Amino acid sequence: MQHYDAIILGAGAAGLMAAATAGQRGRRVLVVDHADAPGKKILISGGGRCNFTNIGTAPDRFLSANPHFAKSALGRYTAADFLALVEAHGIAWHEKTLGQLFCDGSARQIVEMLLDECDKATRSGGQVDIALGAPLDSVTHDGTAFRITRHGNRATAPRLIVATGGPSIPKMGATGYAYDLARQFGLKVVEPRPALVPLTLGGEETLFRSLSGVASEVVARAGKTRFREAALFTHRGLSGPAILQVSSYWRHGEPIGIDFTPDAAPDWLIAAKRAQPRLSPRRALGQHLPDRLAETLAERLALPAELGATTDKLLAAAQGRLADWTFHPNGSEGYAKAEVTVGGVSTAGLSSRTMEAKTVPGLHFVGEAVDVTGWLGGYNFQWAWASGRAAGEAV
Ligand code: FDA
Repeated sequence: MQHYDAIILGAGAAGLMAAATAGQRGRRVLVVDHADAPGKKILISGGGRCNFTNIGTAPDRFLSANPHFAKSALGRYTAADFLALVEAHGIAWHEKTLGQLFCDGSARQIVEMLLDECDKATRSGGQVDIALGAPLDSVTHDGTAFRITRHGNRATAPRLIVATGGPSIPKMGATGYAYDLARQFGLKVVEPRPALVPLTLGGEETLFRSLSGVASEVVARAGKTRFREAALFTHRGLSGPAILQVSSYWRHGEPIGIDFTPDAAPDWLIAAKRAQPRLSPRRALGQHLPDRLAETLAERLALPAELGATTDKLLAAAQGRLADWTFHPNGSEGYAKAEVTVGGVSTAGLSSRTMEAKTVPGLHFVGEAVDVTGWLGGYNFQWAWASGRAAGEAV
């Protein structure tokens, strides 16, 4: 039996941050993961360059049943703090768009940085052992200590940090294990669902699949939440950053709205009719949209062949439809394609300062496992760093 100050389940973003933090505070830490390498999602993130944070990080860019919960951890470990760490490791970075910071080189640099930080534990009398490549057999608690068994080995510690993430991308080894553990210890789980995920179209909207590969700058809307970014038609439905963003807010059975002409002046179609009455609706739309999209939308609007042959009232209705075109997704591409999971271990049972379960002293949940989910663009890693840090400081 090996004895530690803390055992961390999951060698991903939040688990490694928690391990480095606790280790540098002189704690003896064991990190276990069933994957054969640490930080696998970090490695594939941001197209291999890891969008490691967002300088616009603010609590209102996170979804949670309790929108205030993330404030404490995010406020104490900020995007600037993580950026300072990245710079201290000499990792070159750039801002791509909308405050999104990426490595110039490779996401591997972020994993190596976190492992380096874990190694620094020995300088302060701490220790971080990382045990990979074997599934956990059991996790128990005898009232004072947690005990894990894996591969015939047993380890015990008074603190357990659960950092096993969410079930997005199961083929990479992602699981809902954190939810099972939460329930085992009597904590509630907010129903998880795939998020930052492409949406699928069925019925008569399948005709939009013929636009597969066409992208356009739009404002996409789910309920009252709007995102201005690119939307992409796919052979299954809709994707692109604007759609991924609204997918986190979308619920089965609800429509989404797309403004295909976010930059058009009010009454632009009517103005086009006055200026060029012989212009076809398709060509008028083509002044704002990619050709194939203009053609499909013009067909759906079923206006007469020339703008001049159309009433202003009909044109106003067409403008309105183009500014809030309603799609009825019949589903999403699911966990197989979802970048994150919305929902998770209920924040109602956790301390926002330490991420510790209120009813099970010593048990902490961090990262994506928790019911806190960020927008697309580096927010989810920032939550992993901040919540991992909060738990690492507490154990
Ligand atoms: P994470 O998933 O990183 O780690 C969990 C660890 O637990 C894994 O190592 C896993 O093997 C292990 N584990 C799971 N179940 C286990 C079990 N039963 N037993 C033992 N170990 C277990 N975010 C962002 O901010 N910027 C970005 O650029 C991207 N890009 C991106 C691309 C793709 C393709 C995906 C799928 C996701 C992203 N994300 C992202 C999201 C980001 O990767 C995610 O939010 C964080 O990795 C979450 O960190 P965690 O440490 O909570 O989980």
